[in-house]
Amino acid sequence: MSLYNSIWNSFKDKYELPRKVRNIVKLDFEYFKNILSEDREDDLREIIKNLYLGDFYLIKNSFKKSFLDRIKRDCYNHFENIPTSFHKMTEGTPDFHRQIDLEIGKKYSFARCSHSYYFYRWNDDPINLFKEIDTKWRLVKKLMGLKFNEYEDNTPKNGVVDRVQLVRYPSSIGYLEPHSDPYKFQKLFISGYMSKRGHDFNGLGFYLIDKDNKIVQAEDYIDVGDLGIGFATVQHGVAPVNTNIKPSWNNMEDGRWFLSMYSNQSDEVQKRHTGYSISNKINIADAENYQIKPA
Ligand SMILES: [Fe+2]
Repeated sequence: MSLYNSIWNSFKDKYELPRKVRNIVKLDFEYFKNILSEDREDDLREIIKNLYLGDFYLIKNSFKKSFLDRIKRDCYNHFENIPTSFHKMTEGTPDFHRQIDLEIGKKYSFARCSHSYYFYRWNDDPINLFKEIDTKWRLVKKLMGLKFNEYEDNTPKNGVVDRVQLVRYPSSIGYLEPHSDPYKFQKLFISGYMSKRGHDFNGLGFYLIDKDNKIVQAEDYIDVGDLGIGFATVQHGVAPVNTNIKPSWNNMEDGRWFLSMYSNQSDEVQKRHTGYSISNKINIADAENYQIKPA
């Protein structure tokens, strides 16, 4: 068994799956990369233990702002004249984008409203994002006890596939209800932050939920280029931003952008493993103060 898997396994029987955030921890990307490249056991044990206990890590300075700005622009331009559509994760699925309005968004396993752009490895990478994203994603895969390039050659018939999602949450209406993500094939949620509070948007944005069911705001600590990782089952969500601004589906500069890297079980699999919404299961304290859903 690999060093990484033996560390994960040593905590598996000791701790339950974490549901609530404990601390927000900052690490610099170069430092994080060295721990992984050198397989530094004590540091790895510390990080994995903290993840098991619900810590959310912000790996600072992971992506260059220029890269994120470029893919945002190229993504917007590439899909500008392609109609909004939806495709299940089945063999041969194209890259696509979908304007998920408040009504359509209710049909998802966690309710949402966003303009989402989806990219798969078996297509031709029209905006050239995988090469750079993989320099981060591969490290996190290694941290999770996977092969650094696990799933990369998979297509839906193999069961689990990598998917990159670029998301724009339009002002006022963009949101993602609090949820727990699927964890079986990818233990951690992996986020790239593309917008800065106070500069690109105002409002709550990304948040986590703590042991008292209180909202823990995260955007104060987040800069463009950070990589966010947390145990997939730690509950989190996205609240509307710019609540005094009218939303636009056709303005790239409106709202808050976000990058997601996820290895999902495909729709070729019966009874696929998914996450679940928690908004009906708990009563989130302070929700009114923070406005976690569109008004
Ligand atoms: Fe999530």
